[in-house]
This record gives sequence, C-alpha cells and structure tokens, in this order.
Amino acid sequence: MTLLIKDEYPEKLFREDGKRLDGRDLFELRPIKMEVGVIDNADGSAYIEWGNNKIYAAVYGPREVHPHHLAKPDRGILRVFYRMSTFSVFERKRPAPGRREKEISMIIGECLEPVLFLELYPGTSFEVFIQVIDADGGTRCASTTVASLALADAGIPMRSLVTAVAVGKIDGKLIVDLSGIEDKAGEADLPCAMTWFNNEFSLLQFDGDMTLEEYNECLDLATEALKKIYDLQKDALKRKYIDIQERISQQNEKNNQERGEE
Ligand code: CDP
Repeated sequence: MTLLIKDEYPEKLFREDGKRLDGRDLFELRPIKMEVGVIDNADGSAYIEWGNNKIYAAVYGPREVHPHHLAKPDRGILRVFYRMSTFSVFERKRPAPGRREKEISMIIGECLEPVLFLELYPGTSFEVFIQVIDADGGTRCASTTVASLALADAGIPMRSLVTAVAVGKIDGKLIVDLSGIEDKAGEADLPCAMTWFNNEFSLLQFDGDMTLEEYNECLDLATEALKKIYDLQKDALKRKYIDIQERISQQNEKNNQERGEE
C-alpha cells in the first residue's frame, strides 16, 4: 500500500539481502497481466494488472465530436480521460478530476497520438477512458500501455502499439519499474513511453536528481524493460483471437456432432 505521509516513509528502500522492499531485483518488473476485449459496450477495451495497479481502458471512435466546437475540419482528435477511483489510493481521492488527472490525461494523449492516423478522420474524435481501480506507482505508464491495447482492440488503424514504464533511482541505485513507495521516497523517477514503429520515446518525464551518465543508463534500462512489456501486449492481443478461434472450432465440432445425430 502506498504511504502518503512523508514521516511514514521507510528509511531504507532496500532490504538487508539487497532486494527491494517488495522482493524484486534492481531491474525486475512487477508481475504484469493484460487482457483485451473486457468491456462489451466499448468499441475496444483492455485491462491491466501491473503489480498492485489495476486499470481499465475503454475506447470509442471514430465518432462525432461532442462538444462540436472541438472538431477539426482537417483531422480527427484524440481525447484521453485518465481518472482515479476514489478508492484506488490509501487516502480517499476526491471524485472530481483534479489537476494531476488532467495533466496525466494530456500526457497519455501525447504519447498515443503519434501512432494514430488522425489525418484520415477529419471532424471525428477518438476517446479513451481510463479508470484506475487500484494504484501503486506508475499508473500513467500502465495506463498508456493498456490504452494502446484498447485502441488496437477497437480495430483502429495504428502505426504500432505504445508501451510505457518508469525507471529511476532509489538509495543511490538505478531501478526499473518504481512501486508507489519507491516513487514517493526515491531520488528520481523517469516515466518513459516508446512508439515501436520508429523506436522513439514519445514520453520522457523526469522528476528528481541524477547524473547524465545515470540518465543515459536509465534510458537503456527502460528500453530493455519496454521490450519485455511490448511482448506481453502482443501476447494479450493474440490471445483474444486464439480464444475466438477455439470457440469457433468448438462450436463447429458441436454443430457437426448434432448433424451426425440427426
Ligand atoms: O501513478 P504515477 O506514478 O504515474 O503518478 P504519480 O503522480 O507519480 O503518483 C504515484 C503514486 O502515488 C500513484 O500511483 C498512487 O499510488 C499514489 N497516489 C496517491 O496515493 N494519491 C493520489 N491522489 C495520487 C497518487
């Protein structure tokens, strides 16, 4: 559970055995599970469990823009709504979207936009609704990752998926995938997102202190971690179609059996 009160931060972020407080090695990711097609009423959707983070993303579009004045005559627009549930954090979050949620929505939109062909959809909007059910550090990265899956699930043409992870520094050591407590009590936090069609970072958001060498090392660590998460995203997308294929085969088999019995 993330502690919000500074006085309650642990003095050390490493255990006696050199592991992180949650038992991870320096460059180890938290367990990540993803699933697509989880919300029937959305055009596309996905769910991610990333450590203790639990996040849904639902996508609609292309569709008419509301309010109309936001529509652009020469291109579509992408609107992202990142929201944290009141119960998703240790200290109840006020239900109205705050400055942080607006900023994170904007950042996620900027990470995702390069992979969309918005120029092909004038006058329309793509909307991504992200709901954080449980939060424990790195929700903007997990949200970007799951939102890109939901866009793909909606069948929206994309140049590639987008994957995000945070790297940083705690107690003088570089680490990958900061938990909530590491994010709050550590020295530096660097959320990164990668667009795979050009292998470029579409997000680099630095907070804290580190040397230039450490920063460059962080980018290499992030790239390695991003590749692993990207593989999990691809697996989640493939799994949906493998499941559909299996269901069709089972149905065909059943139909054939029934015909044989007639
Ligand atoms: O989630 P992310 O690391 O992208 O954003 P953050 O603003 O750096 O927040 C870090 C963590 O602080 C979140 O993941 C939550 O676990 C926690 N948090 C909280 O406890 N209460 C809030 N109102 C906002 C964030």
